[in-house]
Amino acid sequence: MKGKFISFEGSDGAGKTSVLKAIRADLEKQLGTSKVMYTREPGGDRISEQIRRVLVDRQNTDMDSRTEALLFAASRRQHVVEDLRPALAAGKVILCDRYVDSSIAYQGAGRRLGEQAVWQINRFAIDGLLPELTIYLDIPTELGLRRIATHRADQINRLDQEQLAFYQAVRHSYLRLQKADPQRIKKIDASQSLDQVVSDVKIAIHTKFPELFTDEF
Ligand SMILES: Nc1ncnc2c1ncn2[C@@H]1O[C@H](COP(=O)(O)OP(=O)(O)O)[C@@H](O)[C@H]1O
Ligand SMILES: [Mg+2]
Repeated sequence: MKGKFISFEGSDGAGKTSVLKAIRADLEKQLGTSKVMYTREPGGDRISEQIRRVLVDRQNTDMDSRTEALLFAASRRQHVVEDLRPALAAGKVILCDRYVDSSIAYQGAGRRLGEQAVWQINRFAIDGLLPELTIYLDIPTELGLRRIATHRADQINRLDQEQLAFYQAVRHSYLRLQKADPQRIKKIDASQSLDQVVSDVKIAIHTKFPELFTDEF
């Protein structure tokens, strides 16, 4: 079987991690664990981990936004070389929790670095390795935020206009990316029940790759 690269995108709380868990388990049942690679950035490799440590270090609150974008791109580059390319060469199905579209939406639009600028540095980093299929879990901003902070729902309503505006910009950027490349990026309504979202995602994967989830359709 030829290697396949599928990325999962969407705002925080859209359900990426939950959906991926179900998709991964069912794909492993069909193909065997050795043919499925679940991954997220940074990859497990040493260099990406070191870059990540700089990004999350609480002492680095003065980090410039462009520095941050470049470090994300650098970490992504190492993930491509050490994890993604070898997995594709070995004929695996890659399930990747966030990839290049996250940078464009979060840093380009959310942090206002400009989508084109962020795309340019990432184009250099990924050197042509785009997913064949990107599952975009679309969710209204307030619902996504409520899911990740159920216990703080009233606080969110009150305090975080700024956070709300940030996530709205992220969502609109994702929607623009999806419209610009509907062949690669499939939009799924993530406000539905988890079972329904998982089912829609399986249909999208099966439509692109008819040899996956054959038992279910
Ligand atoms: N379809 C859904 N309906 C209701 N709650 C959901 C759904 N999908 C995920 N959740 C819940 O929302 C929260 C965020 O989900 P998660 O999968 O971590 O999202 P992400 O990885 O996109 O940030 C979790 O508490 C999860 O159990
Ligand atoms: Mg997650």
